Amino acid sequence: MIAYLNGEFLPKAQIAISPEDRGFLFADGLYEVVRSYDGRLFQMEAHLARLARGAEHLRFQANGYGDLGDVCRQLLEKNDLTTGDALVYIQVTRGAPSVRAHPFPSAETPLTVYAAARAFDPLRERQTTGLTVMLLPDQRWARCDIKTVGLTANILAAQQAQENGAAEALLVRDGCVMEGSYSSFLAVREGVVIAPPLTNYILGSISRQVVEAICRREKIPFRAQPIYQNRLAANDELMLTGTTLEVTPITHVIGIDRQWAPGPVTRRLQEAFHGLT
Ligand code: PDD
Repeated sequence: MIAYLNGEFLPKAQIAISPEDRGFLFADGLYEVVRSYDGRLFQMEAHLARLARGAEHLRFQANGYGDLGDVCRQLLEKNDLTTGDALVYIQVTRGAPSVRAHPFPSAETPLTVYAAARAFDPLRERQTTGLTVMLLPDQRWARCDIKTVGLTANILAAQQAQENGAAEALLVRDGCVMEGSYSSFLAVREGVVIAPPLTNYILGSISRQVVEAICRREKIPFRAQPIYQNRLAANDELMLTGTTLEVTPITHVIGIDRQWAPGPVTRRLQEAFHGLT
């Protein structure tokens, strides 16, 4: 497998990252996960825009990482991934200065830029049958809108969900469901698609943006408003969306005495989403 590091394409096994790298030492970095459908990178521009916004928030050197769209396309070609489903992973960190110190390293320290592509099985049967999820307290920091590699709280939640037979955790802050540990959350009530407001406590999901655009096109009402944990059972449909899950229905929330069947709005969104990919 060929991967990319700091301007070079190399066999992945030969890639070496310094132990001084601030991604390794401090999780001082950003990442993106992009889907490829038959060699076409889905929403690449939106992923790059989110990365650029994150880089601005973290005060990275202005575009110190080059044309990553082109890097991703080359990775698909070099790894024979121009047909079928693939995922491209991109990570940019604040580089590898010689001494570990919390403040930023000197301005000439180059960012570390890594990217790799792999074939991906979207497990589409889950989109037909639906998933079980588990409510867990959101223990993340106050800038969940920045896609940093500091994912400890997400990992602990995902693991706890898995140990309880759930495919995803729904993270709850102040009584409201914010999102999943690796996906976004949407509900449907009386024909309206409801999504948690985009604040510093949730990631601006590209897939959710796509769903919102589909709703506009198909004249399905879409509203950003809080989704309360204690009123979850009153929703007609629940679903997850994200780069890996696309649009996937939730059929059971552990602890809530109600089963949901994958509903008509979810099905319409799924169909339209697949039309776009
Ligand atoms: N996760 N919320 C969180 C916390 C996420 O980590 C993700 C994506 C999403 C969905 O965002 P998008 O639609 O842009 O993929 C929401 C990626 C796929 C991951 O960490 O693997």
